[in-house]
Amino acid sequence: MRVVRLAAEDDFEGWRSAARSAALAGIPAEHLHWQPGEATTDLFAASINSAPLPPVAPADDFAVPRRFIDVASDAILHVDPSRFAQLYALLLRLRDHPALMGDEADPSLRRISGMAAAVRRDIHKMRAFLRFREVIEADRTPRYIAWFEPEHHILRANAGFFVRRFATMRWSILTPRGSLHWDGATLHEGPGAHRSEAAGDDPVEAVWKSYYASIFNPARLKIGTMLKEMPRKYWKNMPETALIPSLIAGAEAREKNMVEAARIRPLGDGRAALEALREEALCCHRCPLWKPATQTVFGEGPADAHLMLVGEQPGDQEDLAGHPFVGPAGKILDRALAEAGIDRANAYVTNAVKHFKFEPRGKRRLHAKPNNGEISACRWWLDQERSIVRPRFIMALGASAAQALLDRPVTITRSRGQPILLDDESEAWVTVHPSFLLRIPDETRRAEEYSRFVADLTALKDRITAL
Ligand code: URA
Repeated sequence: MRVVRLAAEDDFEGWRSAARSAALAGIPAEHLHWQPGEATTDLFAASINSAPLPPVAPADDFAVPRRFIDVASDAILHVDPSRFAQLYALLLRLRDHPALMGDEADPSLRRISGMAAAVRRDIHKMRAFLRFREVIEADRTPRYIAWFEPEHHILRANAGFFVRRFATMRWSILTPRGSLHWDGATLHEGPGAHRSEAAGDDPVEAVWKSYYASIFNPARLKIGTMLKEMPRKYWKNMPETALIPSLIAGAEAREKNMVEAARIRPLGDGRAALEALREEALCCHRCPLWKPATQTVFGEGPADAHLMLVGEQPGDQEDLAGHPFVGPAGKILDRALAEAGIDRANAYVTNAVKHFKFEPRGKRRLHAKPNNGEISACRWWLDQERSIVRPRFIMALGASAAQALLDRPVTITRSRGQPILLDDESEAWVTVHPSFLLRIPDETRRAEEYSRFVADLTALKDRITAL
């Protein structure tokens, strides 16, 4: 028996290189014992051979279908200890019969594809169900801590996603088998942790609970769907699930009420959830913009608005007043909305970024464009606002708002004037930011662009009326 040591449970490259060497050396699957992680005392005492496998000469190397590599790199993260051996056995067969990869009926290929699918589901669940809790550290800055129990060895595979999604926050993800710590610049790995090391109840949980109670609405989400999407094993890590028993108990009555009330939404719940969210946002430290700004400028408008208007960020006057779109850009917006026949009082008006970003110039504070990190840090709030208000239509004013909404860079000229379907089935529309109009020096051109702005709003208004 020959022992192959791998650096870790998810060491795909280590497995791949050892498997290639072993296959070329003609070693049968049953003569290899795969041992991931730290070397331990010998399992097979004197009978083992842990000498390194011979290196592969480039001339001897062999190719396997790309699809095998894709499946194997996922399946290797499965908890089943026999995965390394199963993959190696399949590799030996594939070397002689590459067409085997297309044989859906082959039992070992099916087993391995099933493992890969289970790993992908686990990766998705971690992204969807992980919840951060805020703790204030000794230097008085916040760190967000999450406890999660993945089924498979997916922690490292998911690290890039959380770094990109929460690039400007300091966070730690603790799991029983390992932990990740991000300080805004560097990712560190640590040992496994215990659930008690993650923080307990705190104000962030209150927001989740309130938000969750507001979205738990049988007209929007059937219980069955919710339970399927949010398996019971994750409930204990999710503050909002403390509400589930009472929500289920009340669900039947709610459903009946909903049927009776046709499509009317529980406004009270939405208002309370927005209020809780607004209060929470007042002390948002998700990115450094809170420091020089006067205050958080949160969204405003009816909690059941069918239309949401999203700007870029508060300007100088909004920062002082604490309300969105009350300065010069707001005046143009109001005028254009009125010309398009849209009543601003019926819309929920908010911004992609909730703090004023500026550069001081003498006594003046000049608007500075928010960067990708700031937009993505603040998207958390916009997502919560959207989940509570559930607008059917969202108008993004300018490229930053469109980027926050669509999670990708957007060119306004190419995207304006037509609906873009979002994953909750609402429609995003994009147009220019009203400040853009203010900055056009040429009067004729300014008038033309203003007309196009009004035309975009009118097209949206027509669409809303047509439904
Ligand atoms: N510009 C914005 O994008 N939002 C405001 O609230 C004000 C100006």
